[in-house]
Parts: sequence; C-alpha cells; structure tokens
Amino acid sequence: MPATEHTQPAPDQSAAVAAMPDFEPTIVAFVCNWCTYTAADLAGTARMVQSPNVRLVRMMCTGMVDPKYVLKALLSGADAVLVSGCHPGDCHYINGNYKARRRIKLLKEILTGFGVDERRLKLTWVGASEGNEFAETVNHMVAEVRELGPSDARTMMAI
Ligand code: FES
Repeated sequence: MPATEHTQPAPDQSAAVAAMPDFEPTIVAFVCNWCTYTAADLAGTARMVQSPNVRLVRMMCTGMVDPKYVLKALLSGADAVLVSGCHPGDCHYINGNYKARRRIKLLKEILTGFGVDERRLKLTWVGASEGNEFAETVNHMVAEVRELGPSDARTMMAI
C-alpha cells in the first residue's frame, strides 16, 4: 500500500478562513444572572462597542451550566461557547463557579479528544460593574474564533 494512503493532510484552518472571508462566528454565552448578565446589560446601556455575534443564555449561576448545554450548543451549530459568571469567592450560591471551573476544565479535555480546539470553549469571570470587561471579552473571543474559522463540531459528533 503506498505511503500516501496512510497519511492524511492536517486540517488547514487558514484555508477554511480564506475560503470564507466574510465568516462571522456564532457564540453562545451562558452567563450568570448576578454578575456577567448584569455586566452585559451595563455594556449595552452604556453603548460600549461589542460584537453582535454572541447569543446570551441567562442562568442563575455558572454552577447550573450542565456540560450537556455546552455540547448541545456546539452540536447545534455554535462556533464557540462562553461561560461567564461571578469572580471566585463572589458566587451567590457559595461555590457554583468553582463547580463550573472544574466542569469546564474536564469538558475542554473531552472536546480536545474529539478534535475540537479548546479555544472554542472559554470560561471567564466578569463582575456586575465590569461592562467594559464584558465587551472586551466578547470582542476578543469573536476575533479569536474568526481566526479559527467555522466549527465542524456539529458534523464531527453527529450520531
Ligand atoms: S451566582 Fe454568579 S457564578 Fe454563581
């Protein structure tokens, strides 16, 4: 058997991005009601410049973000997922954000095992008064995912 049949070319993300110059990523953000959602609201009412690519899902706490929600978002076509909540020590349910941190770490490992770039899942802490921080987080993540190109997680993990 020729050697070429054993080797497959590595996926070239830059080619994918070049093929889709107008690619606009869709990011699903699970945000805690008490901190990041309030910061997002502040960013909006203060008219801070932020990318419109993010779809917010308001949760009472990041500790309530079941890993299934993240997988469902990726399988349904999201190019990336953001989970964001109160700073460590500020969770309104004592330790929900610590639980979220452990889950997201594990989920990143699982997703990487399936070939999904770990930059497609991000966990951040954004306090209620940090509207500017929220806008910066969103803008940075959108730029990063735009570089990565469209996610093929939906097709890779289809059952
Ligand atoms: S209440 Fe905000 S992360 Fe728990």
